[in-house]
Amino acid sequence: MSLLKLEKVTKRFGGLVAVNNVSLEISEGERLGIVGPNGSGKTTLFNLISGVHIPDEGRITFRGQDITRFPPYKRAPLGLGRTFQIPRPFASATVRENVAVGAMFGTLGKELSVNECLELADHYLDFMGLRAHADKQAGTLTPVEKKLLEIARALAMKPRLILMDEAMAGMHPKDIDKMVRLIQEVSDRENIAVVAMVEHIMRAVLGLAQRVVVLHQGAKLVDSSTKEALNDPRVVEVYLGHPPEE
Ligand SMILES: Nc1ncnc2c1ncn2[C@@H]1O[C@H](COP(=O)(O)OP(=O)(O)O)[C@@H](O)[C@H]1O
Ligand SMILES: [Mg+2]
Repeated sequence: MSLLKLEKVTKRFGGLVAVNNVSLEISEGERLGIVGPNGSGKTTLFNLISGVHIPDEGRITFRGQDITRFPPYKRAPLGLGRTFQIPRPFASATVRENVAVGAMFGTLGKELSVNECLELADHYLDFMGLRAHADKQAGTLTPVEKKLLEIARALAMKPRLILMDEAMAGMHPKDIDKMVRLIQEVSDRENIAVVAMVEHIMRAVLGLAQRVVVLHQGAKLVDSSTKEALNDPRVVEVYLGHPPEE
């Protein structure tokens, strides 16, 4: 059984079909990249999965449960986590508290004491290399540290799947490499599926995603292994506009 399943999902904004009849399945622990040029429907698809938008047509199931009309706050405790393109930590709370909040609203929220949430926070702060910043106000972190904090917070929710919204846009290649390594490691170890939305097929996708779905004008154009997609002439044409480098 797939972890997440989209069946013929469509979302319109007025007359515009932003996501057009998309079907998609994601397995436990799988890392999928959603790619496509600007305006191809990536963010809308992402928002349909996280519950920000409700589809006009189609069905979304997560761990066998129909979540098509669930608001975001009902999806997170089921194990559907996300990061935001623009990190928005509680700026005046500490880094540790920000991550502990993730634990409280995650899949284990009802089972954990406040202290256990703080311990889980420390564990993921260690993992993301942020332990030294644990007691600082989150608002004082650099942009890259805020991204790492976002990921730590998402991990503390003990999700089965993490949606990452262009989490690596604008980052230095060195920081991207580091993040990709950490995400791969935790995804393998904890069997967490990752769906990453990225505008460009770049090293991050090559390293992170085992499979890619290429969107074109809201529809699914390609759904294949990353390697195959990179050699697919349709991808080259609609997406890269030129032959892939490397
Ligand atoms: N809230 C909205 N209201 C109206 N149109 C929207 C809205 N969100 C996205 N769109 C339109 O839907 C299409 C897909 O947008 P989006 O999902 O943001 O694509 P991407 O993330 O791939 O750039 C675009 O034409 C965009 O203008
Ligand atoms: Mg977008």
